[in-house]
Amino acid sequence: MADSKSATLRLEDKEIELPIYSPTAGPDVLDIRKLYAQGGVFTYDPGFTSTASCDSTITFIDGDKGELLHRGYPIDQLAEKSHYLEVCYLLLYGELPTGEQLEEFENLVTNHTMLHDQMTYFFRGFRRDAHPMAILVGVVGAMSAFYHDSTDISDPHQREVASIRLIAKMPTIAAWAYKYHIGQPFVYPRNDLDYASNFLRMCFAVPAEEYEVNPILARAMDRIFTLHADHEQNASTSTVRLASSSGANPFACIAAGIACLWGPAHGGANQACLEMLEEIGSVDRIPEYIARAKDKSDPFRLMGFGHRVYKNFDPRATVMKQSADEVLELLGVENNPKLQVAKALEKQALDDPYFAEKKLFPNVDFYSGIILEAMGFPTSMFTPIFALSRTVGWISQWKEQLEDPHHKIGRPRQLYQGDTTRDYIDVEKR
Ligand code: SDX
Repeated sequence: MADSKSATLRLEDKEIELPIYSPTAGPDVLDIRKLYAQGGVFTYDPGFTSTASCDSTITFIDGDKGELLHRGYPIDQLAEKSHYLEVCYLLLYGELPTGEQLEEFENLVTNHTMLHDQMTYFFRGFRRDAHPMAILVGVVGAMSAFYHDSTDISDPHQREVASIRLIAKMPTIAAWAYKYHIGQPFVYPRNDLDYASNFLRMCFAVPAEEYEVNPILARAMDRIFTLHADHEQNASTSTVRLASSSGANPFACIAAGIACLWGPAHGGANQACLEMLEEIGSVDRIPEYIARAKDKSDPFRLMGFGHRVYKNFDPRATVMKQSADEVLELLGVENNPKLQVAKALEKQALDDPYFAEKKLFPNVDFYSGIILEAMGFPTSMFTPIFALSRTVGWISQWKEQLEDPHHKIGRPRQLYQGDTTRDYIDVEKR
C-alpha cells in the first residue's frame, strides 16, 4: 500500500502523522496502527462502523450505489450467468475458472460430499427438537475431531483440503440436521446431481419413493446459495477471521462463524422475518406493525429490512425478488397467508416516507425467507441454508488472512469505565 498521503493528528502537545492509503474502490483508510505507541490514545468505534479490519481483494460493497462485486464481478451478472460452484472457485482462487478447471473443481467437491460414517452418531446425541443451527455448530466443530489431516493451518495443502471438505460437506450436514429434526432417515448425497439438486434431494427425498428435483427450484436454490456466498467483513466473517487469528483449526473457525450468523440481526433474520410475517398474520394488521417499527420506545424492528452497509436497495434482494416471483408462480402459493402479508408489507414499507428517509429497504433475507417458505422448508432451516451458502465466503476470507505473512492475532482494546484500583474488604466488614 503506497502511503503517499497522510493526515496530521494534533493531540495536546503532539502532532502525529497518520498515513492514508487509497483502495481500488471505496473510501481511503487512515492507518492508525502507530497511534497508541506515538499518541498514547486508542480510537473508539464499537460496532466498527468506521473501521477497516483488514485489506482484502475478495468482495466489495458500495452501500450507497447498492453494488456488490465478487473479485470485481457484479452480483447480478454472477446470479444470472454463473452458478454457485463457479462462484466458489472465483471467491477461493480470484479468477473465473476455465472449463477444465471448473470440471475438476466440481468433481473434487462432488466426491467429498459424504461424511465420516461415525459422525452420524453425533446427530443422534441431539434432542429431536434441537434447532438445526445448534446441530450445525456442533457437527462442524466436531469435524476437527475427524479430519485431523486437514487441521494444520501452516500447511497450504491441508488448508486446501479443509476448504474443499467444508464446501462439499455442509449441504450434507445441513440436510441431515433437517432430516434428524423431522424424524426421517438420512438421505445420502448422489454424485450424478449438481450441488443444489443434491441438497434438495437430501432434504426432501424419502426412501419410500423416487424424488425428482424440479429444475426451477434447483435453479432458485443455487441462486440463493450464490447470493449469500460472501459479503465483506460482516459479523460472522469477522468472527471467523478473529478466531483464525489465534491459529485455531478451520473447522473450529467455521463453527464460530455459524454461531455468530445465528443471531436474528444477522443470518437469523430470514427466520425472524417469516416468524414476524406469521405474527402479523393478516394484511389488515400491517399498519400496526409499521407503526411499531417507527416507534423509538418499541424495540420491534421489521425483520428483513435495513442493512448496516446498504443505504440503497440490497442488490442481492433485487435478484432474489425475481426468483421469489418465479418460485411463487411455479408453486402457485400466492394464497399462502404469510406470503400475501410479505407482498403487502413490502409495498407499504417501500411507500412509507419513514423507511425511504432511513433507507430501510427489504434486504436479501426478506426474499430468501419467502422462497424457502414456498419451497417447504421450515423457518428453522433458513439460517442453516444461509450458513451453507456463506461457508465459501468464510473459507475464502480465512484463506486470505492466513496467506498474509503480516497477519497477527486480533486483540481490540477498550474504553474502560469501571472502578479504579481499590483494596479488598473482608466479608465481616462489608
Ligand atoms: C444480514 O453485514 C452484512 O453484510 C450482513 C448480511 C450478510 O450478507 O452478511 O448482509 C446479512 O445480516 C442482513 C441484515 C439482516 N438483518 C435484519 O433484517 C434484521 C432487521 N434489520 C436491523 O436489525 C438493522 O437494519 C441492521 C441490524 C441490519 C442494521 O442495524 P443498524 O446498522 O443499527 O441500522 P442503522 O444504523 O442503519 O439504523 C438506522 C435507523 C435507526 O433509527 P435511528 O436510531 O436513526 O432513529 O433505522 C432504524 C434504526 O433504529 N432501523 C430500523 C430497522 N433497521 C434499522 N427500524 C425498523 N426496522 C428495521 N429493520
